[in-house]
Amino acid sequence: MQDFKKSVVYQIYPKSFLDTNGDGLGELRGVTQKLDYLKELGVDYIWLTPFFVSPQNDNGYDVADYRTIDPRYGTMEDFEELAQQANRRGIRLMLDMVFNHTSTEHIWFQKALAGDPVYQDYYIFRPARPDGSAPTNWQSKFGGSAWEYAPQVGKYYLHLFDKTQADLNWENPAVRREVQQIVRFWMDKGVKGFRFDVVNLISKGEYADDDQGDGRRFYTDGPRIHEFLQELNRESFGQDPEIVTVGEMSSTSMENCFRYAGADCGELSMVFSFHHLKVDFMGNEKWVIVPADFGRLKELLFSWQEGMAAHNAWNAVFWCNHDQPRVVSRFGDEGEYWKKSAKMLAGVIHGLRGTPYVYQGEELGMTNAGFTRLEQYRDVESLNHFQILRDKGLSEESVYNILKIHSRDNSRTPMQWTAGENGGFTTGTPWINVNPNTSRINAASQVEDPDSIFAYYKALIRLRKEYDVFAYGDFAPVDQKHPSVLAYRREYKGQSLLCVNNFYRAGCRWHCPMLLEGYRVLLSNYSDSTPAADWELRPYESVLLIRETDDS
Ligand code: NOJ
Repeated sequence: MQDFKKSVVYQIYPKSFLDTNGDGLGELRGVTQKLDYLKELGVDYIWLTPFFVSPQNDNGYDVADYRTIDPRYGTMEDFEELAQQANRRGIRLMLDMVFNHTSTEHIWFQKALAGDPVYQDYYIFRPARPDGSAPTNWQSKFGGSAWEYAPQVGKYYLHLFDKTQADLNWENPAVRREVQQIVRFWMDKGVKGFRFDVVNLISKGEYADDDQGDGRRFYTDGPRIHEFLQELNRESFGQDPEIVTVGEMSSTSMENCFRYAGADCGELSMVFSFHHLKVDFMGNEKWVIVPADFGRLKELLFSWQEGMAAHNAWNAVFWCNHDQPRVVSRFGDEGEYWKKSAKMLAGVIHGLRGTPYVYQGEELGMTNAGFTRLEQYRDVESLNHFQILRDKGLSEESVYNILKIHSRDNSRTPMQWTAGENGGFTTGTPWINVNPNTSRINAASQVEDPDSIFAYYKALIRLRKEYDVFAYGDFAPVDQKHPSVLAYRREYKGQSLLCVNNFYRAGCRWHCPMLLEGYRVLLSNYSDSTPAADWELRPYESVLLIRETDDS
């Protein structure tokens, strides 16, 4: 059985991975074609973002049929072929289940609109207030009210995301049974992993005005959330001990995560939390430009590491996904120290306690999109916020500057396979522009290069298999207050791992508070790292050290 603590998950956004039929969109066959590349990297799971039938208003997170593959992504035969080929290489598939909401094109919603009371109870319809306005002042995460009026029904329906993504009513047991059956459908196809989209939002509490915020406090980690997850576990994936699950937890609390991902809680294997990725926000406001707060980043990463460990709960550890800007652009350096900083950021994540996730292209050091015009953007959240920010009075230029940093499209540009046209992603017109830096940053030039970012990720993944301390070690911060250094220690049965990183382009001096005797360098982004009590760390220098004693 695959131990998820020893595993690494690779996330694929199929639309941007590889197009094999020239229509400009990637598809499942493209993933199958690149399995050897993933095998070479050494990953254990592939998480595929949704490829089910969908109008694609949110690139597949608006599902219209959970059991059918959108023809744009291929057929069920293509899926089965992918599963079989992956299995042959010892790689398992993790599917993305979006159960907080469905597309408004889903048959359930269509029946609800047509007046069927059974299906109206699948969603959250509420009457208008006496003045005709929305039932509460809640805001959609994509901007604007979270309620949309449905004239056919004469009521508003709730959508925490786009208005074409209607929230499901989990209070209704029939909805919960439908969801269980969908999970079982994919289990019957041999799927051994599931990621549950914004799953901590499924239990809504009171429907009341929020005088302190956008409404999230009423539905985040809501009143019946643990009960719902335990039931889903019991009635579906929990019946197969080989299945690994991860919940995407929006604005969650650590206390809830102890239970979501606690070893004996009967809920999920692990959680994604996002607090460490809000250190360049202003509070919860992402559409601003503020420098990343490094002290806060450490504080958040470390407190989650320690807290989750103390409660025997398990983290997914990551910088990147399809909703986040590229990490090398965000916390590293796109220029002179591109390679060094990308490797440093990789080292930080892979040494932590948790299951590392690698998002397609991260292993190549892919950078933000660099878009400068609205026509280049595709993401619904970015397009909505362009308008919202303009309406607030910001100049076009200021809005472009904000999108350039925070847009989700930064991570959705096509995978850069080669230096050639369209980065080898498609022979047609890509659905979103390929980053022109594919001439420099691409897989073809990195796979064989022992000094590449790809090689560094490969080494980190291999080390996790070789040294148990990566998977099972406890966690302790080292010199947490240093203004440029991020350092921590892991210990397990005579293995002691020390991870030391200079997070900045300026060199710095670091007094190591631990005795370094007996430690040797396991991996570094400099060929001649020399640990010392008074250490001169070079730009973005990152070193993993190990000490092994007899009881290892
Ligand atoms: C989280 C997903 O990762 C994101 O891409 C999506 O827009 C929302 N959930 C809504 O499903």
